[in-house]
Amino acid sequence: MLVLGVESSCDECSLAVVEDGKKILSNEVATQIDFHRPYNGVVPEIASRMHTEWITAVAEKALEKAGVTMDDIDGIAVTNRPGLVGSLLVGLNFAKGLSLSRGLPFVGVDHIRAHLYAPHLEFQIDYPYLGLLVSGGHTVISKVDDFDTIKVLGTTIDDACGEAFDKVAKHYNLGYPGGVAIDMLSRKGDPEAFHFPDPSLHKGEHRYDVSYSGLKTAVINQLDQFCNGKAEKTNENIAASFQKAAIGMLMKRVNRAVKDTGIRKIVAGGGVAANSLLRRELKNMKDIEALFPSMELCTDNAAMIAGIGFHYLIRGEHSELDLNAYPRVKRFKKTYP
Ligand code: KG4
Ligand code: ZN
Repeated sequence: MLVLGVESSCDECSLAVVEDGKKILSNEVATQIDFHRPYNGVVPEIASRMHTEWITAVAEKALEKAGVTMDDIDGIAVTNRPGLVGSLLVGLNFAKGLSLSRGLPFVGVDHIRAHLYAPHLEFQIDYPYLGLLVSGGHTVISKVDDFDTIKVLGTTIDDACGEAFDKVAKHYNLGYPGGVAIDMLSRKGDPEAFHFPDPSLHKGEHRYDVSYSGLKTAVINQLDQFCNGKAEKTNENIAASFQKAAIGMLMKRVNRAVKDTGIRKIVAGGGVAANSLLRRELKNMKDIEALFPSMELCTDNAAMIAGIGFHYLIRGEHSELDLNAYPRVKRFKKTYP
C-alpha cells in the first residue's frame, strides 16, 4: 500500500511516499528556515503563505522521486494537529482536495505520535518500549505499547525542551534554529562553566516530569549566580553548560523510568533527538537498547506522517472532509500508575 504523507504543521513543507508504513520511496522536505531567520523564530503568517506557494511543487517532486504518479497512491495521511493552524490548514486542505478529486481515503494524524513512529521507518522495533519525544513544542516520556497506545509517564510542567534551546539561543543571539546553534557552540565550550539547577520534581505524580522554565530563567537572567569560579561568560560556555543541564534533566527521568518499569529499550524522536549530547548519553546507557532516527527523520518530515498513517488506513480508519486543524492536542495525560 502506497501512502502519500503531507506535513505542514510548522516551517517545513514536506511530502513523502511510503510503502506499507515502512519503506520510504521519497521524503521531500522544503525548509523555510532562511525566511524565518531574520526574525529569530517562525512567523506564522509567512509560514502559511510559503506552504501555499510551495506545496504543489513539493508534492510533484515527491511523486517524481518515488517514481510513481497519483494513480499509484492508495491513501493520503496528513498532519492535522498540533501545530500552527494557518500552516496546518494548507496541508490539510491540499490533502482533502486530492482525496476528493482522486477518490482516495485520507486520514488526519497527530504530529507527536508520528515523531515517535519515525524510528520505525529505519529499524525493526518491537513493543513495548520507553518513548522519549522531545521537540520544539513537546517533551514526553512514555511507555509505548503500540503505534497509537502511548501511556504518558512524565511531561513538562511548563516549557518544552526545544523551546528552552530556542529561547536561550534567541536571548544570546547564538544563531537560528536555536537547538542546532547551541549544539554546535557547545562543542567548543566548557559544560562546567556554569552549574545550572535541576528542579527537584522527583516526588509522586511528578516523578518523571521536567521543567524548563526555571532553567531558561537561570540561563537568561541569573547567569552570574551560577558561574563556576572564574569561568568566562562566552557564548560557547553558556551553550555547553545549558545543554548539559537541559539534557541532564531528561536523562535523569529516563533513568528513573528504566529503573521503575524494567523496560530496557528507549526510542527517541523529535527535533531535540538530533542533539549530539542526548544521542551520546542514550547510547552510553548500560545494557540499554537506544534507538533514534537519522537526522532527517528527527525533525519535521512527511515520511513519518505517511508511515503512521498507513496503520490507520490499513485498519479501515479514515477522516471525513469536515476534519479540522488543531493548534494543540488534548494534554498528553499521565496514564501510568
Ligand atoms: O520536531 P521539530 O522539528 O518540530 C516540532 O515539532 O517542534 O523540533 C524542532 C525543535 C526546535 O526547538 C529546535 O531548536 C530543536 O528541535 N532542535 C535541536 C537540535 N536540532 C533541532 N535541539 C537541540 N539540539 C539539536 N541538535
Ligand atoms: Zn515536529
